[in-house]
Amino acid sequence: MQLTLTADGSHTLELTDLGEHYHSTEGAIEEARHVYMRPCLLAAFDRFADTDQLHIFEMGFGTGLNALLSSLVAQQLHRKVLYTSVELHPVSSDIYSRLNYAELLHLPPDSLNILHEAPWNETVAISPWFSLCKCYADICSYEFPLQPFFHTVFYDAFAPQYQPSLWSASLFGRMAPALHDGALLTTYCCKGDVKRALRAAGFLVEKLPGFGRKREMLRATIVREQ
Ligand SMILES: C[S@@+](CC[C@H](N)C(=O)[O-])C[C@H]1O[C@@H](n2cnc3c(N)ncnc32)[C@H](O)[C@@H]1O
Repeated sequence: MQLTLTADGSHTLELTDLGEHYHSTEGAIEEARHVYMRPCLLAAFDRFADTDQLHIFEMGFGTGLNALLSSLVAQQLHRKVLYTSVELHPVSSDIYSRLNYAELLHLPPDSLNILHEAPWNETVAISPWFSLCKCYADICSYEFPLQPFFHTVFYDAFAPQYQPSLWSASLFGRMAPALHDGALLTTYCCKGDVKRALRAAGFLVEKLPGFGRKREMLRATIVREQ
């Protein structure tokens, strides 16, 4: 695993043996805003305006960038968030302590480290607006709540060619009962197989403009039968 700079000056991680990056090399922070913050988190705050605490589910905690940006949005909007993130291969401290997100976002230097150093498998109040529950688990065996709980999903797995089972109809189907009616899922990926898997699991799928060189990305909405 190697730290690299992306086009907006923010870091990402590269799995050197696969040549796969955690974010777009055209800008990690800008991609996270484009794919997860604007069309998913901000849209969900509007859609679930009466909700006291918005519940976010993230596939893959990784660098913690999406969690950090979500905590900022929650603070700026004065809206409460519970952020649940599943991760099977946590990033080690010698790597996360060198990520430059706090500096670029003009946050106190330990802002990202605090998220990484939060204990696993318990809910921790990071601020009055942001609580974090990092689950050290394989998404394939993660036990989703059996009742609607999450309002949004940031689906940020490695690409389907590397981990096809993480983009399957059966996984999305296990996730669906854990989502409130109208819950939003976004992902950078726009593959036909992924669209079909989401539809098979009961999502309405729309294409949105992708980030950087990617023409399209996906936003999916869970719609319960009337
Ligand atoms: C594309 S990276 C994105 C991570 C993160 N959202 C970020 O912004 O840094 C995908 C993440 O999924 C994690 N992952 C891979 N397979 C997993 C699995 N089966 N269960 C849970 N997490 C997994 C990886 O370790 C990695 O952190």
